[in-house]
Amino acid sequence: MSTLIKNGRIITAEQNYIGDIFIENDKITLIGENLDMSAKTIIDAKGKYVIPGGIDVHTHLDMPFGGTTSADDFYTGTRAAAFGGTTSLIDFAIQPKGKSFKEGLDIWKAKADGKATIDYGFHMIITDLPDERISEMSNMVNEGVTSFKLFLAYPNVLMVDDATIFKAMKHAAKIGALICMHAENGMVIDEIVKETVAAGNLSPVYHAHSRPALAEGEATHRAIALAQMAGAPVYIVHLTCNDALEKVADARAKGLPAFAETCPQYLFHSIDEMDTPDFEGAKLVFSPPLREKWNQEKLWAGLKQNTLQVVATDHCPFNFKGQKDMGIDDFTKIPNGGPSIENRLQLTFQGGVVEKRISLNRWVEVNSTNPAKIFGMYPRKGSISVGSDADIVIWDPEAEHVISVETHHMNVDYSMYEGKKIKGNADTVLSRGKVIVQNNEFKGVAGNGSFIKRSPFGTPLD
Ligand code: URP
Ligand code: ZN
Ligand code: ZN
Repeated sequence: MSTLIKNGRIITAEQNYIGDIFIENDKITLIGENLDMSAKTIIDAKGKYVIPGGIDVHTHLDMPFGGTTSADDFYTGTRAAAFGGTTSLIDFAIQPKGKSFKEGLDIWKAKADGKATIDYGFHMIITDLPDERISEMSNMVNEGVTSFKLFLAYPNVLMVDDATIFKAMKHAAKIGALICMHAENGMVIDEIVKETVAAGNLSPVYHAHSRPALAEGEATHRAIALAQMAGAPVYIVHLTCNDALEKVADARAKGLPAFAETCPQYLFHSIDEMDTPDFEGAKLVFSPPLREKWNQEKLWAGLKQNTLQVVATDHCPFNFKGQKDMGIDDFTKIPNGGPSIENRLQLTFQGGVVEKRISLNRWVEVNSTNPAKIFGMYPRKGSISVGSDADIVIWDPEAEHVISVETHHMNVDYSMYEGKKIKGNADTVLSRGKVIVQNNEFKGVAGNGSFIKRSPFGTPLD
């Protein structure tokens, strides 16, 4: 199997040049000017950008949560991802409480097996960590699961105490694992939730009011301090606000290995949009919640200045009818999460590149190259170079479209971006050398995505 992509403008995290790419089987084997070789498939990319496939390191496919299960499974979720130019993802496997990490990993591998249409890896969510289980973290790293998520939020569900986090971080530092932190002060939030409910404030916007930005700032500071004491790197997931951003910026200014991602919902939405009379605000219920609008430009600046290294989606879709409406009379019963696996590259291209907040190279870096580097996949993924997997997106910078539930491919009955006009979209998408999206048609195959055995943390970032 050979493919030649001709005349495209190749954009990586560092470079921007016109060139041709030759692919044999699943790898890029040659890059040059005016390559004149025969190939089974020739794709003319004139006028288009050729970028490394997007990598979404924060998804929840087929995940039981909040009394229901996220609406995309590994087939519908990865297919939607592909339409939006994402060719790899890292989902979260959950350690069943009191059981081994291996049991959690096996459950999530079975969910993905035979369904995934793009490559995927797993983080492991740690729900408890007695001393005798610590060595299991090393087994996970040997299996290619080199990152773990721990929660400072959701008491009695996923939250663990500071000692557990500290122990996990200490061991992670020894074995080359990265600890990802959900940073919100869950105990204080629970108190505020109780007060809010007692006052009769039950509509969706009160979800956001009961999880203040300070609770995220405090937990972000604590997560970083615990990591510093443990001598470990730390990665803050779904960072939403300036309070938390400042904590990451301070840590990085001190030279600490602190990294953070934000998500499109925090770059494009704000809390004022949740205060609607008709339960529509439930479509924007996730944790951490939406913030005041001024935080958005702070997050964009954080992306530009490298305080934030990654944009991931936290894709966790629940249908409005039948799932979100479980909380029609009480916001505490609304399943937390929103859909956007398909829209990450589109939204950040529009808000970042078209609206001139970040460069084209930085757009590639935060959506593909940095995720690959931080999570042990680089240069196999996140790069257009000889020897890399041929996960390639041919991006049409002039394509115009309107995001809508009528046309999206996610298995969910609403879009968080309904009616939003976007310039720029994936035109052709290749996963390990095979065309999986072309002419707005899906050509991928369930089961063709394979498990990514990731390397330990440690690839240096620029
Ligand atoms: O509301 C959210 N973010 N749901 C997914 C679970 C998580 O905390 O990432
Ligand atoms: Zn989280
Ligand atoms: Zn999440």
